[in-house]
Amino acid sequence: MAGKTLAIVLAAGKGTRMRSKVPKVMHKVGGLPMIEHVLGAVRMAGASETVLVVAPDSDWAGTLAQAPRAFVQDPPLGTAHAVLAAREAFASAPDAVVVLFGDSPLITPASIERALARVRGGADIAVLAFRTDTPTGYGRVLMADGQVVAIREEADASDAERAVTLCNSGVMAIAGGAPLAALDEIGNANSKGEYYLTDLIAIGRAKGFAMVVAEASAEEVLGVNDRAQLAQAEAVFQDRARRAAMEHATLEAPHTVYFSHDTVLGEDVHVEPNVVFGPGVEVAAGVRIRAFSHLEGARVASGAVVGPFARLRPGADIGPKAHVGNFVEIKNAVLGAGAKANHLTYVGDADVGAGANLGAGTITCNYDGVHKHRTTIGQGAFIGSNSALVAPVRVGERAYVASGSVVTEDVPDEALAIGRGRQVNKPARSPSRRRDH
Ligand code: UD1
Ligand code: MG
Repeated sequence: MAGKTLAIVLAAGKGTRMRSKVPKVMHKVGGLPMIEHVLGAVRMAGASETVLVVAPDSDWAGTLAQAPRAFVQDPPLGTAHAVLAAREAFASAPDAVVVLFGDSPLITPASIERALARVRGGADIAVLAFRTDTPTGYGRVLMADGQVVAIREEADASDAERAVTLCNSGVMAIAGGAPLAALDEIGNANSKGEYYLTDLIAIGRAKGFAMVVAEASAEEVLGVNDRAQLAQAEAVFQDRARRAAMEHATLEAPHTVYFSHDTVLGEDVHVEPNVVFGPGVEVAAGVRIRAFSHLEGARVASGAVVGPFARLRPGADIGPKAHVGNFVEIKNAVLGAGAKANHLTYVGDADVGAGANLGAGTITCNYDGVHKHRTTIGQGAFIGSNSALVAPVRVGERAYVASGSVVTEDVPDEALAIGRGRQVNKPARSPSRRRDH
């Protein structure tokens, strides 16, 4: 986008309808705060500067990924008042300003660009609008001869105006200079006593500004005011993520697979039903994720098989062609190429060498109640079923641990370790024991 563009993202509203201790815009969609979705879209639309308007004590603003300059609006007296809280940023003399709401996480860069393009093309103001059969609660966009003549808030609208189905998304592109300066003329003579950004249109009409509409889908401008709308936004996000994934991966039952904003699936990944991808998951080409698996903060290399019923926790690094089977949990551990943990196993804080085989019920005892310790299992090692490896401990390459062992000392390469009570057989004792009872 040529020219200097300033994006102002409003997030100083009280968010009362969420009934939450968490600020509204920090509620997550696809595992990412709503405000980050908006800021991401603005970045992709190519704004040259982005600023945020927040309420006092908004510590969250400093925790954002690329924390923009934040202006405090105190008290919140309406959307126009909020934009003017950032007026210091106007000093950079932007060619265009685009205003967005922090509670509309589904906005796309393309729609922001479309509104800005109208201003670049000569309009003084471009309103991003959408059509809906259920316009209740939105400002109605009133048109005459292809020009926007007013935006009427629900509370101030006549019956005839309420019947209008063209609604204001909240995104507005304003040309620098006179249109931007006109913000100062907005008053608060409305039913709520607030300074409405939408009143800029009536002022612009009196001044003869060219004011147009750019259209977006109702879906992408959904404003989240309560938790039901949050769930609606999540549903749209998931739908988008599934479609994107299916461009190159197979989802057997797409509506049962849940993605995060940063999930990466390689080509020909095959995902069976009921799988959850938490944040930070990268799955390489050709991997099969079997049903009912839960992954977060994990990497899975090509050709590996995960699940069914597997849990990969943060730091799980599954090597090429490795197998992670049912009821296996892996945390902060590397599973080497072709290694197998197929049944009922916990691998935490461990390095498992290539081709090692962990029998059913293998547990790395990584926590002594105070500290975490690492377990190292050499390549080609074999851990017999139901063994406990008490960390810190190392099992050597191609070593063998007998079933049911509790391993507390290092096992040298190629050694056999047996760490269990010895079996004793008492001849003919079974019948007499039964008589005793
Ligand atoms: C607003 C629009 C309405 C539009 C709708 C789309 C106005 C007057 N109304 O209504 O035309 O159809 O969005 O969702 O603009 N905010 C502040 N400071 C304030 C007030 C609000 O920062 O003093 C922020 C909020 O945090 C929020 C955004 O502005 O991100 C919109 O405020 P909200 O109260 O949700 O406006 P709506 O009633 O939804
Ligand atoms: Mg709103």
